[in-house]
Amino acid sequence: MHIAHTIAELREHLAAFERPAFVPTMGNLHEGHLALVKQARPLGDVTVASIFVNRLQFLPHEDFDTYPRTWDSDCEKLRTAGCDVLFAPDERALYPEPQTCKVHPDPALADILEGHFRPGFFVGVCTVVMKLFQCVQPRVAVFGKKDYQQLMVIRHMVRQFALPIEIVGSETFRAEDGLALSSRNGYLSETERAEAVQLSQALRAMAEAVQSGERDLAAIEARAMQALTQRGWQPDYLVLRRRSDLQAPSAGEPIVALAAARLGGTRLIDNLEIDVPTS
Ligand code: PAF
Repeated sequence: MHIAHTIAELREHLAAFERPAFVPTMGNLHEGHLALVKQARPLGDVTVASIFVNRLQFLPHEDFDTYPRTWDSDCEKLRTAGCDVLFAPDERALYPEPQTCKVHPDPALADILEGHFRPGFFVGVCTVVMKLFQCVQPRVAVFGKKDYQQLMVIRHMVRQFALPIEIVGSETFRAEDGLALSSRNGYLSETERAEAVQLSQALRAMAEAVQSGERDLAAIEARAMQALTQRGWQPDYLVLRRRSDLQAPSAGEPIVALAAARLGGTRLIDNLEIDVPTS
């Protein structure tokens, strides 16, 4: 695996390839990331991953400083997963001057849910992803569906700027008990880790209610909020939204359940696409 720390070095190495397949990450890699790399491999003529903890997408009180940096094991895992090129710039390499030119995604999509609870988050994500895309110039990029809204915001950005990049969404990788894998799961204590599965179970309960024909979506959401709150969680949202734009759904439209909730000091997110049988 070739490791490039600067944009120039990366571009020089990638000049020989026509169809890079790209997986951007912030490191602290787990099986979910490696599944993205494996999915990317057959999609291009070279597989590129990046590791960059992007300060722009963290709020001042969030975990930028303590976000786990696990360089040696990340490199080992990427090698094993078959990554060809790792782009790992430091802040001076990616942001040599203050990044005052930023990408502001559509507020209708980016200022709700995650964007509401983490203002500016998607500006930070879109800005770094746009910049990483300029560096790697991929023909295809793979993102996890675990960050459902992020995937939608990026798809929208790519479409609006007519970037010649196919965006592939990869299914969420779950632990045996159903917990979606996340770099932040490492913050959980043993007791919290056992409790954490309740988030995916809350989503499943919402899905079952919809699938069993219950039509009062607000009541389903309120029940899920109450169930998690009673267990000691602090939910930001547990909602049922239209898959196409994450707005409130009308009858018969494809739905996704989305959740974000804090367990102790750790904020977890998850989602579940709900298939409603057509009658
Ligand atoms: O999903 C992530 O890990 C990050 O938001 C991303 C896409 C690598 C941008 O920093």
